[in-house]
Amino acid sequence: MSAGERADVIVIGAGIIGCAVADELGRRGAAVRVLESRAVGGGATQASAGILAPYAEADRPGPLRTLCAESLGLWDDFVARAVADSGRDVLYERTGTLEVVTDEASMRRLERTGRALTAAGVECRLLTAREARAAEPSLGAAVAGALLVPSHGFVGVATLMEALREGGAARHGVSFLTDRPARHVQASSDGEMVVETAAGTLTGDAVVLAAGSWSGGAAGTAGALPVRPVRGQLLQLAWSGRPPARVVWAPSCYVVPWPGGSMLVGATVEEAGFDERATVAGVATLIKAVSGVLPEARNAGFEAVRVGLRPGTPDDLPVVGRSATAPGLVYATGHYRNGVLLAPLTARLVADLVLDGREDPLLAAVSPARFEAA
Ligand code: GLY
Repeated sequence: MSAGERADVIVIGAGIIGCAVADELGRRGAAVRVLESRAVGGGATQASAGILAPYAEADRPGPLRTLCAESLGLWDDFVARAVADSGRDVLYERTGTLEVVTDEASMRRLERTGRALTAAGVECRLLTAREARAAEPSLGAAVAGALLVPSHGFVGVATLMEALREGGAARHGVSFLTDRPARHVQASSDGEMVVETAAGTLTGDAVVLAAGSWSGGAAGTAGALPVRPVRGQLLQLAWSGRPPARVVWAPSCYVVPWPGGSMLVGATVEEAGFDERATVAGVATLIKAVSGVLPEARNAGFEAVRVGLRPGTPDDLPVVGRSATAPGLVYATGHYRNGVLLAPLTARLVADLVLDGREDPLLAAVSPARFEAA
């Protein structure tokens, strides 16, 4: 990158959010540069199990559920476009989720959730313990019942990231500048956004800050934004028994059936600052949790543990929208547990805002103003 290079939009961060936003902007004709200090998708994204489950993540109505459900509806097209643009296969399965519980009080809660979802028009089915084990024979005796939500699913995040990177670069002119962290961002007197990097400056009409956990003070732009890292550890196990046919969502873990007989088991939720180590305690917690609902897990081989830092916010909602203090700066961060699920919607909202000046009403709940004003 030479000093003084120009793009229409500069995206800071090449995780799932930055890549989805860059792809959408490029698709709509913008010249986009993506700045990243790691490999593409090398932050929290690489540790995601890719679960697409709005009604499990947001167990009651509210802005998070609205956003996640809206985004779930965009996934078929999002994947189809990524595949068409890149020529790459993307692992994407709408297997449904089976949310299992292990005590009667939780079963009563699940019944209430099931009734509310049905009333809201969401297809779901409550299963007794016997029915749950008939659907998933690997479930253990501790399971007291379950809620099946057929519209849920999962995506192989690594395959998706490869497709977004290649499709964006090949078809939409998106450039990925890795090993080039943004050092500072400011608005010039004529309203242009100026980003300083280790290898010179880049100017653009807009900067999209999609730096995940590193957005809190990233690039000297957003010291006041209260985004914090929330560590998640994710196991990959080599399953020896009959694998579940769908995502299993249990009280203290979730399980994603992976092709080739592996199983992803996630995830811890830890306030550990920027410590990206896997820990014995984290791994042990997940093994205990998964063995409680799928006893066969005790015989599984251990393949890998991955660690990511989710970008958490005080209200667990993302931060998407224009900065009140620098309108050329647009936030797309703080997606906490739902960065993958919310990527297609975030890309659409940001592209509408940056390229067309259109403020979707969905942005009201995720406005940066709720933190910038404080
Ligand atoms: N989306 C699940 C997690 O963050 O663990």
